Amino acid sequence: MKKSVKDVDVRGKRVLVREDLNVPLDKATNEITDDRRIQAAVPTVKYLAEQGARVIIVSHLGRPKDGPTDKLRLAPVGKRLSELLGLPVKCVSDSIGPEVEAAALALKDGEILLLENVRFYKEEEKNDPEFAKKLARLAEIFVNDAFGTAHRAHASTEGVAHTLPAVSGFLLQKELDVLGGALSDPKRPFVAILGGAKVADKIGVIKNLLTKVDSLVIGGGMAFTFLKAQGKEIGKSLLDAEGLDLAKQMLADAQSRGVALELPVDVVVADAFSNDANRKVVSADDIPADWQGLDIGPKTIERFSEVIKAGKTIIWNGPMGVFEFANFAEGTRAVARAMAEVHGTTIVGGGDSAAAVEQLGFAGKMTHISTGGGASLEFIEGKALPGVVALQDK
Ligand code: 3PG
Repeated sequence: MKKSVKDVDVRGKRVLVREDLNVPLDKATNEITDDRRIQAAVPTVKYLAEQGARVIIVSHLGRPKDGPTDKLRLAPVGKRLSELLGLPVKCVSDSIGPEVEAAALALKDGEILLLENVRFYKEEEKNDPEFAKKLARLAEIFVNDAFGTAHRAHASTEGVAHTLPAVSGFLLQKELDVLGGALSDPKRPFVAILGGAKVADKIGVIKNLLTKVDSLVIGGGMAFTFLKAQGKEIGKSLLDAEGLDLAKQMLADAQSRGVALELPVDVVVADAFSNDANRKVVSADDIPADWQGLDIGPKTIERFSEVIKAGKTIIWNGPMGVFEFANFAEGTRAVARAMAEVHGTTIVGGGDSAAAVEQLGFAGKMTHISTGGGASLEFIEGKALPGVVALQDK
């Protein structure tokens, strides 16, 4: 068990808080298109301000390659955070150095400062110890609340925790509690639903889930590699050739463990990779040679929905089809709908499935929507998250 913000006295102290404010931005207008990560940061920041801490927030935004990039500055995020908090948020145009140190020292109890995008320094991702010390110099306590970045051993997530007393924020704690609780002590039946393109990317996740779940539902692009592994013809559907042997192993593993592995029984195929392509529903045993599967079919939707609704703990990561094409979004929609009807714990991994649930208006019906894409997958895989490991134990 890690110490949390509640375990330290923060009044009058400068507290460096790592949040994951890496929100999607509109390519043309640079406007924030989804502010869920900013909303999720509010409870910890608000609590610290109310406790009289001098709050210094650090985050990355995007993946800047060559230092400061105007489109990836954090000021617009600071503005949105301030609106959500109902409190002023001061922004500085750097994340270390004398000016930032002066701004940190000038903070009064309850005031909030947002540092500039920490990835403008290449030292951040290198977890450079000197850079971590420069960040640490700004504060007396470190709070890591950035679950979405907890799988990265970077200076602002891991390095800084070696210099300052380091505890978790409410969001990080909640993510670990919900995901950890589901994995270690699930109410059964425990069902996992996985989608996405590549088997190889999810192999660790599948391996670990097979030791825990009662049913594993596989849809999305990677389902075709599993169908191929069963000896079916998949036409021009996505094949992860590298993952084919792994898929065969996983099928055998599921069988020997008595896990029900659910694959599509029918699919929506298209004659091109386009929303406007000709499409038809075919059995998973009859995928035509020149067509490609872009969504699960109606019989599969019925089957998957039954399995999901019978579950008491459900974890979902990855869309069931090419969700960004309206004509191939029904499978993903149906999974979201079935999850919304579950009487039990429903957890949606970050990324596309979280966005799907949000867009379809089912967000309020889920027990938990994770703010971490990669981080939640690594956690489900059973990997230790460096940003968590570095925090103080209780
Ligand atoms: C994410 O969006 O998954 C996190 O913010 C981490 O970002 P990264 O994949 O660029 O490290």
